[in-house]
Amino acid sequence: MRITAKANSNIALIKYWGKRNSDLNLPAVGSISVTLEGLSTQTTTRFETGLQNDRLLLNGKKESGPALVRITRFLDIIRNTSGVSLKASVESNNNFPTAAGLASSASAFAALAASASKAAGLNLSDAQLSELARRGSGSAARSVFGGYVVMHRGERPDGSDSIAEPLAEKNFWDIRLCIAITTEKAKTINSTVGMTQSKASSVYYPAWVDTAETDLAEMRSALLAKDFQKVGELSEYSCLKMHALAMSGRPGVVYWNGTSVEVMHAVQSLRQTGIPAYFTIDAGPQVKVLCLPEDENRIKVMLQEIPGVLRVLKTRPGDGVQIIEATE
Ligand code: DP6
Repeated sequence: MRITAKANSNIALIKYWGKRNSDLNLPAVGSISVTLEGLSTQTTTRFETGLQNDRLLLNGKKESGPALVRITRFLDIIRNTSGVSLKASVESNNNFPTAAGLASSASAFAALAASASKAAGLNLSDAQLSELARRGSGSAARSVFGGYVVMHRGERPDGSDSIAEPLAEKNFWDIRLCIAITTEKAKTINSTVGMTQSKASSVYYPAWVDTAETDLAEMRSALLAKDFQKVGELSEYSCLKMHALAMSGRPGVVYWNGTSVEVMHAVQSLRQTGIPAYFTIDAGPQVKVLCLPEDENRIKVMLQEIPGVLRVLKTRPGDGVQIIEATE
């Protein structure tokens, strides 16, 4: 079977940073995210006779280096579970510019988990799909679901409870996100490397792990109560806490550029004028601004006027992973 799946990216409001087991990619902390409409990856997989190696076509370009190695390792998990021994041909396209540093392992591995597992004849439940996607990338476990999602750290050594689950569907609450693009260059230190460094060398790491459950519980109730101010404050808090942790490693990692900092200040000044807006940033320099629908347009204009901001994308809660085509 040739299976095409589509998955949206997501942004964590309470961040995942650090692993309790690298082999199974088990997170050291839980996280809470929003799946993002319109920032998606579409992936087609087919296990084929006659292939010597897996093949990866990423945005039309044949990949051979680390990207292919990562995909092959992931496909090996599916081959082991399904008993299919054939190599696969994988074609993956992002509908957003990869070079903008928005290239998301979350949408990529959620789409690949869905398309490759089905192409291998597996019929996984959403929970199993989330567990599989996590093996590819921790944040991908969350992109299996739409709307507001919680990822559990889990306790079991085999990782079967380190999975995401829906917290509230996308229509539960209409919030918006404006994404300020501050560079078109791809980031230099990926999340996996960054979080490994933090765990190995930051004196803040134990405190990050110890306080995670409290942050998660507070965010969960704020979200379910639709308390925008609380959700926004907690998002900024978790973001700055994660970045402080990344910066405090040896070597420390600074994911921001000068414009990221300008945008953070601008968002905080905006709040002083009475407009509710809050920022969050992943392992890169782009800034995502959380806002309410009635303020979205003026916030977009305000962000566009900040020197160094190249352009601004608008997004909102979106759907989970979907199979969009299946052919023999
Ligand atoms: C800052 O999911 O990319 O975006 O599991 O090593 O692939 P791996 O890491 P990844 O890390 C995401 C880190 C983050 C925060 C988050 O999305 O929770």
